Amino acid sequence: MLDEASVRRVDKSGAAAHVASLPDQVVRGFQLGLKLGPLAARRRVVVLGMGGSGIAGAVLASWLAAERGAMVASVNDARLPPWVGEGDLVVAISYSGNTLETLAATRDAMRRGTDLVGLTSGGTLRDLCDGHGLPSLLIPPGLMPRSAFGYMFGGLAALFPETTADVRTAAEALRVKGTKLAPGVPEAKNAAKKLAQRVKGRTPIIYGTPTYAPVARRWQTEFNEYAKVLAWASVLPEADHNELVGWAEDPSAKRFAPIFLRDPGEIEEHRAMLDATRELMKGKTKVEEVRAEGPTLLARMLTTLQLGDWTSFYLAVLRKVDPTPVAVIGKLKAQLAKHR
Ligand code: PA5
Repeated sequence: MLDEASVRRVDKSGAAAHVASLPDQVVRGFQLGLKLGPLAARRRVVVLGMGGSGIAGAVLASWLAAERGAMVASVNDARLPPWVGEGDLVVAISYSGNTLETLAATRDAMRRGTDLVGLTSGGTLRDLCDGHGLPSLLIPPGLMPRSAFGYMFGGLAALFPETTADVRTAAEALRVKGTKLAPGVPEAKNAAKKLAQRVKGRTPIIYGTPTYAPVARRWQTEFNEYAKVLAWASVLPEADHNELVGWAEDPSAKRFAPIFLRDPGEIEEHRAMLDATRELMKGKTKVEEVRAEGPTLLARMLTTLQLGDWTSFYLAVLRKVDPTPVAVIGKLKAQLAKHR
C-alpha cells in the first residue's frame, strides 16, 4: 500500500519532506551561491565530491557540457587529475564536510595552488576554508547528503555565469511536477508510486544516454540508499555493444527491471538505438520507460531526477524500510577514521 498512512508508518525520519523540498532547495542554494559571484567564469573547473554530494557536480557538468559546451570535470576521488593546477577553480562539495576523499583532494588542490571554494554544511571542510581564508558556501545542516541535492546543485550552478534563467525554469518545473508525485496523490495518478510498484521485487538497472548518465546514476544511488536495494546504472548506446548480450542470453534477465530515461531532444542515433534495445529486451523482462517532459534540458534532467527520488522513496515504503538511515556508510567511515 502506498497511501499516506503507510508512508507515515515507514518514513520515521521525515524523508518525504526533504524529497518534496527539492524545488525550494534549488532556489535557495542558487541564492546562496550568487553571493560568491560567477567564480567559475572562463576557466577550467573541477568539482569534487563523493556520493550524495558528488552527484550535484556530475549532473551540473553534464548539463553544462551538453548546453554550453563547458568543460567541467566531476571528480569522485581523493586526488585531482594531473592537469589541474594554478588558475583552475576547484569546488569541493561535501555535505558533512568530513568525507575523507573530498578532504584529501581539497588538500591536494591547496598544494597545487588552485583557486578553491568549499560547499558544505560545516565540518572540517568549513574549518579548512575558514582557516585559509577561502570562500565557502554554507548550506543548512541536519539533512542526509542526498536529501540536500538541491542546495548543492543550486549553489554550484550559481558560480557559473548566465545560469539564472535555466535554473529558474527548472525550479518551476520541479515545483509543478513535485505536486503530482507527493504522498497525498493517489497511486492511480502518481507516476512514482506506479513505477515503484512495477519495479518492486526486481533489481533496477537504469539506462541513460551520456547526458543523462549522472541522472541515471542518481536513480541508482537513491534505490541503493532510500530503498536499500541493489541497483545499477548504465549508459546507452555503449551498453548495446556489450551488456545487451547478457540481456539476450542470461536466463535470469526477468529478475531485473531496466528503466530507460528518455529525452525528447535525444539525437536520432540515440533514439534509434534505444527504441531497438527496448524492443529486444521486451522478450526477456518488463521494460520501464520514463519520458522526460519540460521546456528546457535542465528542467527535464532535474524533473527526471526528482521522479527517481520519489520512486525510490516509495519503493522503501513498499519494502517497509525507513528511507533515511544508511548505517553501513557511517560504519565504513568510522572504520576508516580509526586507521588515520
Ligand atoms: O548519501 C550519502 O550519505 C553518501 O553518499 C554521502 O554523500 C557520501 O558518503 C559523502 O559524504 P558527504 O556528502 O557528507 O561528503
